[in-house]
Amino acid sequence: MEKYLVTSALTYANGKLHIGHIAGSYLNADIFVRYQKLLGNDVLYVGGSDDYGTPISLKAEEENVSPQEIVDKFNKSMRADLKGLNIQLDNFSGTSHQNHIKDSQDFFTDLLDAGYIIKKKLKQFYDNKQKRFLSDRYVEGICPFCNAEGARGDQCDNCGKLINAMELINPISKLSGEIPIIKETTHWYLELPKFEAELREWLNSKTYWKDNVRNFVLGWLNEGLKERGITRDLNWGVPIPLENTEGKVLYVWFDAPIGYITSTKEWAEKLGKPERWKDYWLDKDTKMIHFLGKDNIPFHTIIWPAMLLKQKVNYILPHDVPANEYLNLEGKKMSTSRNWTVWVEDYLRYFDGEYLRYVLAVNAPETKDSDFSWEDFRIRINSELNNVLGNLANRTCVFSNKYFDGKIKRPTELSGLSVKTLKTVHELVEDIGRSYSNYQVRKATKQFMDIARIGNKYFDETQPWKEISTNKEKASETLYVCLDILRILSIVASPIIPISMKTLHDMIGVEDKINWDNIKNETFAFFINYVKRLFRKIDEKEIKEQIEILKKTQERNMKEEKIVEHKSQIDYDDFSKLEFRIVKILEAQRVKKSNKLLHLKVNIGGEERTVIAGIGKDYKPEDIIGRKVPMLINLKPRSVMGIESQAMILAAEDEGKLSILYPDRDVKEGSEIS
Ligand code: 2FM
Ligand code: ZN
Repeated sequence: MEKYLVTSALTYANGKLHIGHIAGSYLNADIFVRYQKLLGNDVLYVGGSDDYGTPISLKAEEENVSPQEIVDKFNKSMRADLKGLNIQLDNFSGTSHQNHIKDSQDFFTDLLDAGYIIKKKLKQFYDNKQKRFLSDRYVEGICPFCNAEGARGDQCDNCGKLINAMELINPISKLSGEIPIIKETTHWYLELPKFEAELREWLNSKTYWKDNVRNFVLGWLNEGLKERGITRDLNWGVPIPLENTEGKVLYVWFDAPIGYITSTKEWAEKLGKPERWKDYWLDKDTKMIHFLGKDNIPFHTIIWPAMLLKQKVNYILPHDVPANEYLNLEGKKMSTSRNWTVWVEDYLRYFDGEYLRYVLAVNAPETKDSDFSWEDFRIRINSELNNVLGNLANRTCVFSNKYFDGKIKRPTELSGLSVKTLKTVHELVEDIGRSYSNYQVRKATKQFMDIARIGNKYFDETQPWKEISTNKEKASETLYVCLDILRILSIVASPIIPISMKTLHDMIGVEDKINWDNIKNETFAFFINYVKRLFRKIDEKEIKEQIEILKKTQERNMKEEKIVEHKSQIDYDDFSKLEFRIVKILEAQRVKKSNKLLHLKVNIGGEERTVIAGIGKDYKPEDIIGRKVPMLINLKPRSVMGIESQAMILAAEDEGKLSILYPDRDVKEGSEIS
């Protein structure tokens, strides 16, 4: 018997579950777990919500409630959604549970004691208005790697790269919308470079990992590992277990994976056997499998193993990290902020969880990004689940009931065609087993549907509706073979569509338990208990409605974006504090590593100044040298990419394009604007 510890990436507790979460880290895990259970292996499946970090505290601030309230609300909603989709974790915890604090602190202490954590003073963005340091998502700007706007202080959603907040171009505080200042603070760093040799050796043994994961990790290693900050200036998180560290907590990505351990411990506690967690975490024979989306690869394959390696407790390391790519929606990248997604809760108001499981399984983004579309959903439910699998079940059971009172016995001898048909089915069963073991859910889904197709073809070829009047035994043989195929399907398809396959199993009166070994056991007699349609058809109208719902949220979003929020009124005194003058641009050049910033030297009237202007996307340096333009010249100097900017250029923005302003006749530099 093998032993598995399976995890799904902990979901940030700042929102509800959507189909991207399900396709990325839940359904694949649940299918794997169900398959391993069918084999009789020992499997524990844990997960939970990722409760700390800036996504949650930001949301709490936006909604003016406590972070714990946010976390509790979404943790509860996640549980309900998982239940609705029959995703059955043995324990679904949350990292804000009390038992998580000590273990996370112990991880820090052990790494510190072992000499893998150093303390450093560093400069960080600070919101002077709010008097707070701006960690991670509290600051946004332009990505220094791909130049996408809206990159966060920890990661860019566009290119997926991890970002050092200080490298963001044009940083803005999410708290006040102001440009942050830079201030000194103290933080603790995990010295990843020290792990390089050990990690490389460990990774060399992972030849069986998926290509996308291995390549990603090797790329990281080859670029050279860098120290990573593992603490933050925040008040929501696990406190640092050191004196005089008020206002500082462990970085969410440090404590999050420890949540897998604390969720297992919570499971053991609930079971009344608090030591049982050790059977998994401390037994070298346990295979730990982390299911997650590709953005989580570096944390689970580099940082997390490094953390585990230096603990006083002898924890196991990940065995495999079968990361998935992304799921798109109707051909477009999913985005929760633009509401371009399908929320599980909404889905379940209209359709059965089984259908989403099937469609997400057959479209799983295993090796490349894949797409969910409502029309594809309808077609697959109608022409695959209904017309192939549902049809085989229905025609076989109805026929058996009508002509044989629902009782079908195994014939003493099977025809050549029957033997051949069943042999092909059993070969496919082997293939399906391999697919499940290799996390190839798409393939497994197609393969079980092929079994159902074989059943239908056999039914058509043997024509029991004709045989019934001439050779009743022949007709009975057909039904027997089809029932046996249905019995096999009720087992092999059960990891993907568990509820309908349980119904099918009960319907055809199989007494053997649903497990993989029993596939081989021939059943000698079937008794149809009842006949029920396994799947319903989806109407075109229903799909149109879903597409309308999606479109409406899009339109609403677009309208919202167009509403101009005017600033509040000011006194003349406020205005008169601003000193605008016409300045002449003497020199201009691009700021290194930025396509947006220009470094200008200007004459403001008898005095030269340096200005960093964010107009580089729309103007080339040579276009503006010699121009006279208005600038605000008494704004306090601020540092942009390490250069002090001593005035601000004025420009109009239209659909993202900037246009600088000019006086409509030549005026001397230094002329005041009032
Ligand atoms: O990316 C995310 O959604 C993270 N909340 C995943 C954490 S996985 C693990 F480390 F807990
Ligand atoms: Zn980027």
